[in-house]
Amino acid sequence: MSGRRNKSSAMIQSFKKINSIKGTLTFKGDKSISHRALLISSLAKGKSIIKNLSESDDVKSTIKCLIDLGIQVEYKNGIHSITGKGYKGFHASQKSLDAGNSGTTARLLTGILSAQNFESEIIGDKSLSTRPMNRIIEPLTQMGTNLNSNNGKLPIKISSSNNFRAINYFLSVPSAQVKSSILLAGLHLEEQSSVVETTATRNHTENLLGLSVERDGTKIKSFVSRKNYPDSKEYFIPGDVSSAMFFIVLALIVRDSELIIKNISLNPTRTECLNILKQMGGRIQIDLKGVSNNEVFGDVIVKSSRLSNIIIRKEIIPLIIDEIPILAIAGIFAEGNYELRGASELRVKESDRIKAICKNLLKIGLTIDEHEDGFSVIGLPKNIAQTFESFYDHRIAMAFAILSSLLDSGGNVDKFECVSVSNPEFLNQLRTVSS
Ligand code: S3P
Repeated sequence: MSGRRNKSSAMIQSFKKINSIKGTLTFKGDKSISHRALLISSLAKGKSIIKNLSESDDVKSTIKCLIDLGIQVEYKNGIHSITGKGYKGFHASQKSLDAGNSGTTARLLTGILSAQNFESEIIGDKSLSTRPMNRIIEPLTQMGTNLNSNNGKLPIKISSSNNFRAINYFLSVPSAQVKSSILLAGLHLEEQSSVVETTATRNHTENLLGLSVERDGTKIKSFVSRKNYPDSKEYFIPGDVSSAMFFIVLALIVRDSELIIKNISLNPTRTECLNILKQMGGRIQIDLKGVSNNEVFGDVIVKSSRLSNIIIRKEIIPLIIDEIPILAIAGIFAEGNYELRGASELRVKESDRIKAICKNLLKIGLTIDEHEDGFSVIGLPKNIAQTFESFYDHRIAMAFAILSSLLDSGGNVDKFECVSVSNPEFLNQLRTVSS
């Protein structure tokens, strides 16, 4: 592995073929749970303790926004302490709140700020400023919030109204960010709000707030009101399964490998990616170890396996949305052809991930059929050393780092510094377990 900087000082990272993966890894806290633990702690009155918080740039964006809103965040001996101000206790920020690259920060914070008695503005980086915000603007406007955006994109100005009210909302986009934005707004109202989804999405907001959730056939309905307003408490954030997936796929494909991953999130709305790999023939052993704030965690043991492609059902796409780039890499090393459909949401992530994956896979001689909602891949990867484009998207960068490490020729990934958006430890972890 070696890195070099080009003229614009962006990093091109080289990867050599890896012959074996052996060892044990732990991961910093899951990014989605980390954002929520921070936001919820800042709403509570008094000091909350967070152990194993994510050290990603995205979570740092949430911390910075909370500090700008008057919340005290301290870090000592690996533990974060958040001193929240209680109900409607945020102070107006003197400047625009910068969510950086983080959609979760922008969308969840907009929900919370809808309930505060002052005006705020949220901005983001180039990528986040192109991502759709109407999906939160619509329900929050129904709740009475005044939202002023740049044609449904950031920057967005948020001010509460005297007529802020509860809603019962049917999610038209299966998005945990939209669901959470509404739930965090509804947390400030005496009257009960509800959100109904027909396709399950990650449920960390419901778990950390201890919300009641009803299932009726395919419908999942979550309820929230001020009764659920949080108290300060202690959190342990299980390791990030989405970050671990890059190493899990690598260990499955590289011969003579055995990898142990300790204390990662095993929340059932996040482990569909592991189930898919198991159905593909992956030798993955999962040992549940504990529960913290309704979030289950445990260890995973992965051994080299022969993988075969399977049909990925459309209903589970929202549950594997972040893992699709690395599942696609698993797919091209598995027997049979890889096909993904029903995943048009990938077009509006940190990059257009369908375009990014297809463009990069074409470079190694595969036959690609690109669709609006997915792609199919035929053929075997050719060992031609290439520089893959990260599109400044952390998950694309890590997926193609893994692909490069699987090719005899090795490969390079451009603008690799973007991996710090979710996992600044990626290269160190790869060095630790590979030979
Ligand atoms: C997230 C939800 C997902 C996911 C994102 C994190 C969350 O987005 O892609 O990385 O923390 O709620 P959507 O819910 O918008 O699909």
